[in-house]
Amino acid sequence: MTHPTADAGFGVYLHWPFCASKCPYCDFNSHVRHTPVDEPRFIAAFEREIAHNAALTGPREVTSIFFGGGTPSLMRPATVGAILEAVAKHWSIAPGAEISLEANPTSVEAERFRGYRAAGINRVSLGVQALNDADLRRLGRMHTAAEALAAVRIAADTFERYSYDLIYARPHQTPAEWAAELEEAIGYAVEHLSLYQLTIEPGTWFERLFAAGKLSVPDGETARALYDVTQEVCARRGLPVYEISNHARPGAECRHNLVYWRYGEYAGIGPGAHGRLVTDKGRLATATIRGPEDWLAAVEREGHGIENRETLSAEAQGDEFLLMGLRLVEGIDPARFAALAGRPLDAGRLDSLIADGLIARDAAGRLRVTEAGFPVLDALVADLAA
Ligand SMILES: C[S@@+](CC[C@H](N)C(=O)[O-])C[C@H]1O[C@@H](n2cnc3c(N)ncnc32)[C@H](O)[C@@H]1O
Ligand code: SF4
Repeated sequence: MTHPTADAGFGVYLHWPFCASKCPYCDFNSHVRHTPVDEPRFIAAFEREIAHNAALTGPREVTSIFFGGGTPSLMRPATVGAILEAVAKHWSIAPGAEISLEANPTSVEAERFRGYRAAGINRVSLGVQALNDADLRRLGRMHTAAEALAAVRIAADTFERYSYDLIYARPHQTPAEWAAELEEAIGYAVEHLSLYQLTIEPGTWFERLFAAGKLSVPDGETARALYDVTQEVCARRGLPVYEISNHARPGAECRHNLVYWRYGEYAGIGPGAHGRLVTDKGRLATATIRGPEDWLAAVEREGHGIENRETLSAEAQGDEFLLMGLRLVEGIDPARFAALAGRPLDAGRLDSLIADGLIARDAAGRLRVTEAGFPVLDALVADLAA
């Protein structure tokens, strides 16, 4: 029962598309509903879509499961338990598999943590976002810093592992303020932190405010200084960067996210989820319907909510592999690129990126983006993939 990308694992992503309110910066597939969500109906639909995916993959050993959102911590623990049972019924779950759930750090949600633990969750990822109340208000969050830290303490007492997210490069934030906040944050983070630079996403409230000149974000130079502070503080405090926005004690990396970045195999279940399945015909990209009720209706009608499925060309696989793998500090094996893309990397382009100090080749021949290269990662990947 081994999977075809044994070095990278087989992950199952489950998307819960509801939130108590919509944060003004967020463009994730998340929806606010003013009537209660029919969780038993969703359980049945998740199970049917899991069965559909299992028929596409054949037998697999699941190495990680991730409930993402939206806000999965709005689910009843019994719902989480029932969906995990459905995963176990259609694939086998590896002993010690990482089973994560994204949680918002309000007191209401923290009350459910013991129930999630009993249902099988062994890791939570908390959206703390900021450690001061003024910024939390500006980010439209429904919790205070004290409430978030109380949820972090409950998570630490309840789960084997936990992580939390902070957003930096907020309006008017200075590198000195961020350094102090990060130092404080690391005091509460045992093994893992996700640190995201605020991006103004199309279609969000922040985009409208930004366009109207009512929201200012740090300029390029300040953003670079904030990024550099992030790397320096985290490395010094024993949580070095392992992916462009993720920091962990060595060995405590999020195994589920590593499946994506190492270009492994994963099933995407639930509204607006993406999957990459290794089938007889090649690597199949799947994307499900984003609207929760439309997805539900499609699954009840057809057994799945997949609206796009495409067997990826060799070229597309090579591009995706670079895009994902170069985000990791461990870098990529160029032989795997050649096997996926059906051609080696362009030696001339590679040599010039190495000469510019943006990419380094180690003794084993792996290629990694250097410290100077990370801030210009997108341009670098585009150059190498061209
Ligand atoms: C799927 S979201 C949310 C998890 C959970 N619902 C929460 O808000 O706590 C995952 C993370 O993405 C980050 N994020 C979302 N939109 C962002 C943006 N525009 N810029 C930077 N980070 C963002 C936040 O840190 C958030 O915790
Ligand atoms: S940041 Fe989290 S809580 Fe806020 S809208 Fe996005 S998914 Fe929902």
